[in-house]
Amino acid sequence: MTALGTLYGVGVGPGAPDLLTVRALRVIEAADVLALPRSSDFGASVAWSIAAPIVKANAAQERLRLTFPMSKEATVVRPRVLAAVDAIGERLLAGRAVAFLTEGDPSVFSTFGYVRDEALRRWPSLRVEVVPGVTSITSVAAIGGIPLADGHERVAIIPATYGVGDLVDLLERFDTVVLMKLGGAMPTILEALERTGLTDRAFLVSRATMAEQRVERDVRRLEGDTGGCLAMMIVKRSDRSGRLVNEAAPDATRATEAP
Ligand SMILES: C[S@@+](CC[C@H](N)C(=O)[O-])C[C@H]1O[C@@H](n2cnc3c(N)ncnc32)[C@H](O)[C@@H]1O
Repeated sequence: MTALGTLYGVGVGPGAPDLLTVRALRVIEAADVLALPRSSDFGASVAWSIAAPIVKANAAQERLRLTFPMSKEATVVRPRVLAAVDAIGERLLAGRAVAFLTEGDPSVFSTFGYVRDEALRRWPSLRVEVVPGVTSITSVAAIGGIPLADGHERVAIIPATYGVGDLVDLLERFDTVVLMKLGGAMPTILEALERTGLTDRAFLVSRATMAEQRVERDVRRLEGDTGGCLAMMIVKRSDRSGRLVNEAAPDATRATEAP
């Protein structure tokens, strides 16, 4: 009986091909099959468009395109996940190594998580390896010139399209709030920023590290704008980056750290 192939979840970084890790490149080039997610049957795979410029051509390697429509509905996404695992499973059962490419990092809002869970449900002994990637979160922080967290600061990561009704509360409780998957949430976000007086502490980056990168530091200008589908907003309450923080933390049991 042929041994099961390995399933790799490979993060390819946020957009710039030179942000792919050495390990990601090695695993992609060695795989028998590249599983390439895309959001429509006719569209390109964002993950493959990031990796393709630096991956060595390999005529023996199969490119398996898998469509996962952008949807919050399980009834839309689930059948696509099952179909993807059917196709990937066929290759794994033939002993082939399959690398599922994912934009950014596979552990951050990636379809790979659903694919891995379903594959492990079907083949519990399957070997799965995750190759971490540079996530859009740290890339956007780098572009904005802010530390995500310093000293005792706390960070919240929010998929905005699933609801930001509690955003005022989050902005008050966390030092840094990362808003991803903006969808139609912009009006509520801008209103919460105004209510908390944090409008000037927010910035938006879309298509970070890609040729079309856009940085908006005056988020008031985003009224009537979605920001685009690869867009993120970060709100950082203070500018105390890099300094020893002596002020009392909200939780008095937390110690002040030396820099
Ligand atoms: C499905 S999640 C994928 C996140 C990805 N796995 C990561 O680690 O960055 C998509 C969301 O990530 C954010 N995102 C992904 N790539 C981005 C980029 N290049 N620039 C800005 N935001 C990005 C956006 O908020 C987008 O709605």
